[in-house]
Formats: sequence, C-alpha cells, structure tokens
Amino acid sequence: MAFIEAHGLVKTYTPKGAPIVRALDGLDLEVAEGTVTALLGPNGAGKTTTVKALTTLITPDEGSATINGIDVLADPQAIRRMIGASGQYAAVDENLTGYENLVMVGKLYHLGTKRAKQRATELIELFDLVDSQNRPVKGFSGGMRRRIDLAGALVIKPPVLFLDEPTTGLDPRSRLGLWDVIEKLVSDGTTVLLTTQYLEEADRLADSISVIDQGKVIAKGTADELKSSVGGQRVALTLVDESDADAVRGILADHGQGEPAQMGGRTWVVPVDDGPTALSAIVGAAAAAGIPLHDAGMRRPTLDDVFLQLTGRAAEQTDDETTEAAA
Ligand SMILES: Nc1ncnc2c1ncn2[C@@H]1O[C@H](COP(=O)(O)OP(=O)(O)OP(=O)(O)O)[C@@H](O)[C@H]1O
Ligand SMILES: [Mg+2]
Repeated sequence: MAFIEAHGLVKTYTPKGAPIVRALDGLDLEVAEGTVTALLGPNGAGKTTTVKALTTLITPDEGSATINGIDVLADPQAIRRMIGASGQYAAVDENLTGYENLVMVGKLYHLGTKRAKQRATELIELFDLVDSQNRPVKGFSGGMRRRIDLAGALVIKPPVLFLDEPTTGLDPRSRLGLWDVIEKLVSDGTTVLLTTQYLEEADRLADSISVIDQGKVIAKGTADELKSSVGGQRVALTLVDESDADAVRGILADHGQGEPAQMGGRTWVVPVDDGPTALSAIVGAAAAAGIPLHDAGMRRPTLDDVFLQLTGRAAEQTDDETTEAAA
C-alpha cells in the first residue's frame, strides 16, 4: 500500500444560482513514502480540493483515502497529528511578529517553549526572514507572508507534508530557497505532496507527477516519462507582432508534423521530424513572408507540451491565482 492513497474521490459544489461544479471527479492518487509527488494542473483543476480532502478540511462525497494506512475519513484526528500543511493563503496572526507566530505554532503542537523558540529561530533563518522577524505580520509583503506560512507548516517536521502551490507569489530567489528546503526535507525522509501550476517546479522537485485536469488525473509518471510520451522535437517561434499569428500558423502547419499550437502569448509550437531542417525552413519561410520573429528555436518536449497533448489546451500560467477564490 502506498503511503498516501486516494481512490475515486468525488467532490461537488453547488454554488447558489450556478451549475454544479465537480471539483473532483473520481480522482485516484498514490504517493510513495519518502518521495515528492506533484499534482500538476491549471487553475480550477482540483488541486486545492484534493489537498483539502486529504488534510481533512473537507469531506469528499465519494471515494476513500489513507495516509500511512490510516483512513482519512474515519480517523481525521490521527491524520491531523501526522501531517503538516501550508495553505495557498497565509493563516497567521497579524498582530504577532513572524517569530512569535512560529513560536505560537510550536506551542500549539506541544513542542515546549524552549524547543518552540529554537525551531522558530531555525525556520526564520531558513526562510531568510531574519530582518523582519521582529515586525508584526500585518506589515509583511505577500512573499513574506508565504514564507511565514510555509515555515509554520514545517514547525513540527511532520512525516507528511502537503504544500499547495508553495512557491506561488515568491520571488525567484525565495523560490530556489524553498526548493532547497523541500529537497532537504525529503532527503530526511519526509513524504511530500505538492501542487503546482509550474511545470518547471514539478520537473525539478517531483519523483512522480500526476497531471490533473477537471478533477481527474489524466496522466502520471516521472517528468521524463511524461515528456517522452509526447515524443519528438519541437520548433517554437515567438512573434514580434500578434497579428502575424495566422500567417505563422500556416507556415508551421506546412513544415511540421501535426497541428501548430499556441503556447501562451505570442509563442507558437509545432512537432517536427527533423529539427534543424524544419527550423531553417520555417525561419526562411517567415523571412520570405516578411514576418518579424522575436525568437526561433528547437526544443525537446516540455511538460507544457505534455499538457497540451493530453488536453488539447495549453496549461494556463496565470499570475493572478492569488485573486482566485480562497476556496
Ligand atoms: N467552496 C467552493 N464552492 C464552489 N466551487 C468551488 C469551491 N471550491 C472549489 N470550487 C471549484 O472547484 C473547482 C476546483 O477548484 P480547486 O480550488 O480545487 O482548483 P485548483 O486546481 O486548486 O485551482 P488554482 O490553481 O486556481 O488554485 C473549481 O472549478 C472551483 O471553482
Ligand atoms: Mg488551488
């Protein structure tokens, strides 16, 4: 039995005056002990709902789940004692300083004052919050709040950690720092389930990736397995001018194998057989047609391509997740 197992999770919401939402639609998941599994999916895929179901914050309508053999639905108390979880939104006491918040969490978990203070100091250093540790959280920036929230999830070094979009809203340096922290935890034996919309993050951190869309797992494997399931090389063009999209589409269709796809903004991608030959033909055709290019290149399939292949849609990489309902 896997360390975390979920079978057939269904969760529906019936918002007033709106159609029923099937947030989870028969979701299955397995996470091996001491590994990182990433739930990768776009906005609204069901990532937060999955984490909430596994961390006992909501009760699924159907399905079952266990963590370390303990039934999540039957014994939520035992589950809560063995997990750490960070929400997508910081849950901290605004009037306390960062340091005090962490000490408070430690005390809540019965660490004892001395140990709670020690752990708070360690985490303040780990998350690079030394300069701000004596300021009340109400004056913290969004990124500082994220870090305090994450530090809070790590106070008791839980055997299982759920991280819902841990690096959303972090600047690049903090993101790298957090990746290091997660890798260290895992090398010490922690089992991690994290959600992300960042393909790069899943690639970098996860032993196994479950791609989710509309409440279901639509593919799983290692990053390499997922990429090789898509196969082949790609040619990607980025336009200077969006209005050239139709013309470029036509050129890519002529020289590629299969449908050109828009990968966000002004970048278009098509699978090709022979990368160098196709690239030079495509760039030549664009030049002949007078289409200015911002960028042109070959690449191996990315997880973006995987998502596109699986769903027919690009994985939206929105920057405004924080404005989405906290639900
Ligand atoms: N409390 C709720 N009431 C109504 N609908 C909800 C509620 N919670 C979630 N949903 C809906 O369920 C679906 C899945 O939501 P969920 O928050 O799990 O997605 P997500 O993958 O975490 O998305 P994001 O990347 O934006 O955080 C969405 O359509 C969402 O609108
Ligand atoms: Mg979410």
